[in-house]
Amino acid sequence: MLGARGGWRALRRCASLPRAVRLRVREALRAREPADAVMVQGWVRSVRSQKEVLFLHINDGSSLESLQVVADPSLEKRDLTFGSAVEVQGKLVKSPHRMQNMELQAETIRVVGPCDIWSFPLKMKERHPLEYVRQFPHLRCRNNTLGALLRIRSEATAGIHSFFQDNGYVHIHTPIITSNDCEGAGELFQIEASREAKDSAEKTHFFNVPAFLTVSGQLHLEVMAGAFTHVFTFGPTFRAENSQSRRHLAEFYMVEAELSFTESLQDIMQVMEDLVKTVTSTVLSKCPRDVELFHKYIAPAQKGRLEQILKHKFMIISYSEAVEILKQAPQTFTFKPEWGCDLQTEHEKYLVKHCGEVPVFVINYPYNLKPFYMRDNEDGPQHTVAAVDLLVPGVGELCGGSLREERLPFLESRLQRLGLTNTYQWYLDLRKFGSVPHGGFGMGFERYLQYVLGVDNIKDVIPFPRFSHSCLL
Ligand code: 4AD
Ligand code: MG
Repeated sequence: MLGARGGWRALRRCASLPRAVRLRVREALRAREPADAVMVQGWVRSVRSQKEVLFLHINDGSSLESLQVVADPSLEKRDLTFGSAVEVQGKLVKSPHRMQNMELQAETIRVVGPCDIWSFPLKMKERHPLEYVRQFPHLRCRNNTLGALLRIRSEATAGIHSFFQDNGYVHIHTPIITSNDCEGAGELFQIEASREAKDSAEKTHFFNVPAFLTVSGQLHLEVMAGAFTHVFTFGPTFRAENSQSRRHLAEFYMVEAELSFTESLQDIMQVMEDLVKTVTSTVLSKCPRDVELFHKYIAPAQKGRLEQILKHKFMIISYSEAVEILKQAPQTFTFKPEWGCDLQTEHEKYLVKHCGEVPVFVINYPYNLKPFYMRDNEDGPQHTVAAVDLLVPGVGELCGGSLREERLPFLESRLQRLGLTNTYQWYLDLRKFGSVPHGGFGMGFERYLQYVLGVDNIKDVIPFPRFSHSCLL
């Protein structure tokens, strides 16, 4: 315990010390004026000790650039290593370096959390390949590339919400656990309680009916579009399909929008195009340095391609035209292009190339290829529905959408043929009580990031590479 006089002296000492202002690295780097008492916390990205001076770079995730700390060599400690967590107090001064605005002259350096550099898988000053850091899902966010990606992902998420909010859409949280298979493709993960949690041995299903992780929030959005006119959702989506491919995940994020009083696919395509262009411009302007890292080291041609897409209208071709283009292609495909068959990745890539490496809408697909909810075009022997897929260079299908079948008799007969009438009574109700022409689309968020950044493997644009390799974090 301090005596009364000791306590008073300690208090005076504290009062006379200027209280350090805590700054994030980004704020320190952007500061206009020098400041006397500043505190910065972060992780050491480099340590360079010279006879006269000790240099550190510290990063706290607020920017790609690290803050240079200049210190007297006497402040060096054994546990001040690459990867350690530190708290530095000192003066923020103009940096003599051309490439950096400010630097921190350290007065104190406290190692908050040491890091054993020998067992730490990331190494100082090494540009680790994406495949290498993928092995360390719990540490890879400390690497520049993943750091940049996650800041971009965060800005793109905000950009998507702003785009819809600014255009009068209401955001809806659609359920994650549902009993419907919206796409009808059977790629479902079923939900059951673990054996221990089951309350009775006789009960077959936890919810009394089979329940699944959602494959799409579309049907729930259609409910809401019947009251709010324009709605959107942006959440996790699950597909039990081959997630070993470079563009498929078992768990991914989907942006979905639904618009009532919409009679033409053109209107849906306009929203898709505006969304892609607006969010891309936002990301380019909000995180230029982070995007530059990808365009410099990962996909050098991508920058020019993006500038092109922002300037020009996306192309539109019909599915029938697409099949003709494929049939006349000078190359042979593994899957022979045939009217009535699904477009494969190799076909999508060829179509995009044929159109000049720009985004292409393919519209009016065969009736039998598409889910029950798509609107019948009633167009003769080559019977199609008002469906649209947006194909983009390097990725293939980025968005899928359609006009929805709003006419009760058409929907009833289709559901009857599929044996789904009982399951979708509630959906049929929507066509009985104030049904309107409507449509919408879904965009795969990870594929969007792959496209903008030119990343080849979809597992490199997610925070945690779950259900891949050996790690189930
Ligand atoms: O084309 P999809 O299956 O469309 C739907 O689910 C509609 N119900 C959406 C709607 O109209 N509201 O999926 C939409 C998009 C695809 O174009 C693709 O970008 C992405 O979701 N996607 C995947 N992304 C990553 N991994 C997977 N396994 C994906 N499956 C679809
Ligand atoms: Mg699709």
